[in-house]
Amino acid sequence: MNEEKTVSKPGLKVAFIGSECYPFVKTGGLGDVMYALPKALLEQNCEVRVFVPRYKCIPWKYQEKMVYRGEFNMQLCSDGRAFYVGIMEYIWNGVVYDFIDNQEFFSNGNPYTTLWDDVAKYCLFSKACLSALNYLEWIPDIIHCHDWQAALVPVYLRTLFSNTPVAAAKSVLTIHNLRFQGIHDIGHMKYWTGLPDYVFNEENLKQGYSNANMFKGGLAFADMITTVSDTYSKEIQTPFYGERLDGHLRYHNKKLYGIVNGIDVEQWNTATDERLAQKYDSTNVLEGKKANKVALQKELGLDEDPDKFVIGLISRLTDQKGLDLVNAILPNLIDGNTQVVVLGTGDPQYENSFRYYESAYKGSVCSNIMYDENRAHQIYAGSDALLVPSLFEPCGLTQLIAMRYGTVPIVRETGGLKDTVIPYNRYTNDGNGFTFDRYETGLLLDAINRAKTLYFTNRWCWDEMVQRDMAKDVSWDASAVQYCQLYRKLKPLKEEE
Ligand code: ADP
Ligand code: GLC
Repeated sequence: MNEEKTVSKPGLKVAFIGSECYPFVKTGGLGDVMYALPKALLEQNCEVRVFVPRYKCIPWKYQEKMVYRGEFNMQLCSDGRAFYVGIMEYIWNGVVYDFIDNQEFFSNGNPYTTLWDDVAKYCLFSKACLSALNYLEWIPDIIHCHDWQAALVPVYLRTLFSNTPVAAAKSVLTIHNLRFQGIHDIGHMKYWTGLPDYVFNEENLKQGYSNANMFKGGLAFADMITTVSDTYSKEIQTPFYGERLDGHLRYHNKKLYGIVNGIDVEQWNTATDERLAQKYDSTNVLEGKKANKVALQKELGLDEDPDKFVIGLISRLTDQKGLDLVNAILPNLIDGNTQVVVLGTGDPQYENSFRYYESAYKGSVCSNIMYDENRAHQIYAGSDALLVPSLFEPCGLTQLIAMRYGTVPIVRETGGLKDTVIPYNRYTNDGNGFTFDRYETGLLLDAINRAKTLYFTNRWCWDEMVQRDMAKDVSWDASAVQYCQLYRKLKPLKEEE
């Protein structure tokens, strides 16, 4: 091994393929990971290209910076129907973003529409990414695919692309959320994928009598499967969390690993966050949070009082997030000293119940039924506690952001919530937040009451927990190293490297 070669040695080449990526398009944590993990991999000396659809909803300020890299016609469907694929490129902070362009498929206001359309859309996207890699003559060591929308990539790689240059790559498929799998009837799926009949068998895509499941096929064909926390990697092998794929995952568990997510600590930094009423760090967190709390109360029309206990909830409003528990106990929280701030959109039943609570408890409850990055930052900074009582949570990023902002998480012990929040221990005065185990209203209420008791009767210990939370390492550093180690298992260093 010569010195010069070591210095200039390229690290792994990794292609990320997924349906969303902050700041271009984001509906949840997947978008955050698609942005932050590639950045962290750069630090590990990887070369990274990120593939995302060029949705019309990507803000113009990014669209106008994209550079045309080429186009081709790609055969997709079983009857030979072909489609235009364009590649638009944007290089930012060392990461190359390649946007797959096709106006017919990606012109909706929202990335996701109906399953019928989405299946076709992500068949085109998955196949187009592999074609684009061949077209660009950029053959990665690892193709890292994310969730069901990119799950067909490993299937295409080992079937229709097996005799093309890109087949030299190994594939990793990350499960961010097993609830969504891309299931449709076999006829529709055979038509749009153009895949050979033999992949529609029980071991691969077939599910039940007449359906095909994109995620199931991807999990079978991927060289490695990861998910976003160690606990979730075990939970999904059980019927309760396995979303009918628990048996399939047990069968493939030799190639299944759990690596907990981090957050981008530059994007989420209280010392530089322009969206805050007052910036702060661990040396002045108590005053900083107080100023942000009052600013938040003022902005949202809540009673202005820095001594009230403010509970934030920032979430997609869906069954996954434990909102039926929150709905059931919310009236019990309103005691004149507690305020609740909700930010989210989703199922109408939850949107409406939170609207109702706002009108019933004016001054104490504020429901922001919207998606708003600015407001999210303000709530993370201005709340004392953040509620994440999920039914299941593959990782969860909001509890990590909360801790980084000195906001104490109150979470259910599931998935990544269990792996990242150490329960407060009043005997040793240790831990990062308040937790409960079974999915029960009484236990959620008890956890919130334990938090309130500490806040109102032992502020000194509360403030110490705030300090501990701010000091906790929630960055991507450690997890990016773990991903590289897994990549290396698939692509070991050669002797001469
Ligand atoms: P999930 O991916 O299941 O929605 P995560 O906790 O992994 O949950 O990630 C949620 C991400 O989306 C966080 O960055 C959170 O701040 C953000 N988020 C969720 N709802 C909203 C909203 N209404 N407005 C702004 N940001 C939101
Ligand atoms: C999913 C999960 C969430 C996870 C995120 C990023 O949307 O619901 O728990 O944090 O993906 O991996």
